[in-house]
Amino acid sequence: MKQFFSVADVANLPDIVDEALRLKNNPFVYGQLGTHKTLGLVFLNPSLRTRLSTQKAAANLGMNVMVMNMDKDGWALETRDGIAMNGTTVEHIREAAAVMGQYCDVLGIRSFPKLQDREADYSEDLFQKFIAYSGVPVVSLESATRHPLQSLTDLITIRENWHQSRKPKVVMAWAPHVKALPQAVPNSFAEWMCRAQGEGMAEFTIAHPPGYTLSEQFTHGATITHVLDDALADADFVYVKNWSSYEDYGKIHPVSGQWMLNHSRLALTNQAKIMHCLPVRRDVELASEVLDSPHSIVIQQAGNRVWAAQAVLKRMLEQLS
Ligand code: CP
Repeated sequence: MKQFFSVADVANLPDIVDEALRLKNNPFVYGQLGTHKTLGLVFLNPSLRTRLSTQKAAANLGMNVMVMNMDKDGWALETRDGIAMNGTTVEHIREAAAVMGQYCDVLGIRSFPKLQDREADYSEDLFQKFIAYSGVPVVSLESATRHPLQSLTDLITIRENWHQSRKPKVVMAWAPHVKALPQAVPNSFAEWMCRAQGEGMAEFTIAHPPGYTLSEQFTHGATITHVLDDALADADFVYVKNWSSYEDYGKIHPVSGQWMLNHSRLALTNQAKIMHCLPVRRDVELASEVLDSPHSIVIQQAGNRVWAAQAVLKRMLEQLS
């Protein structure tokens, strides 16, 4: 594996889920694989789970880890070509990424969208340039349009919590929020679940209010509804997540009706397990009574970030050696 950016970088979904679960059962079995190898984690945005889980995964594989808060500690990056750098940017991504590639065997990059210009965000320019100029394998720690380590984690968590022969009904339910959030997590979850559905692993439904349609490139094959209660009927898993508008890019539209999942809504489901990538705003996105109930598997889900990261890093290390 030379890059981990989207579900397209995974040849076989069940294989990588199984591998992550084997690593969870036996975390240190590949403890020598990363000896004398360095992972660089570059953050242009905040993180709790991605930062700590990826560091732990790398440590389990015997890697050295360097973390850089590029937004706070690095030089202001220029990504455009063909311009004189006589403004506020100090270092071009061509040099910055190439230099990081000299120090690191694998790089992880987190870079959120600015939510101003859809075409610019969805071009994934910065991420693609890191891949092009670093010369080493690159893992997405969440890009403008996707969060693949989260989505792999989500699939692992669904697998762990599903013990029936029929396919689980998985619902991604839009939830309210006070600010405009990227589409990266829902895009990515939809992309992975549509692939899982295509491979007979799940039935996938998305519920969102009018005005919050995601790009069809991520949702092809999903059942999509504007009626949350219809989606929740007989759901086995409900993945709660806010996102801002893709159509009216980065904007928040007023919504009618109640979109926050609470106990009375949960009663419509098949005793569903409740998922969220975290961080979550209690009693805005998701009711505390649900988060604090046995239905919630958000902590187990966050814990599984380690095994998703470890499975991906293991594959990259194997390709290096
Ligand atoms: N879910 C997730 O990526 O969490 P962080 O933003 O804290 O890394």
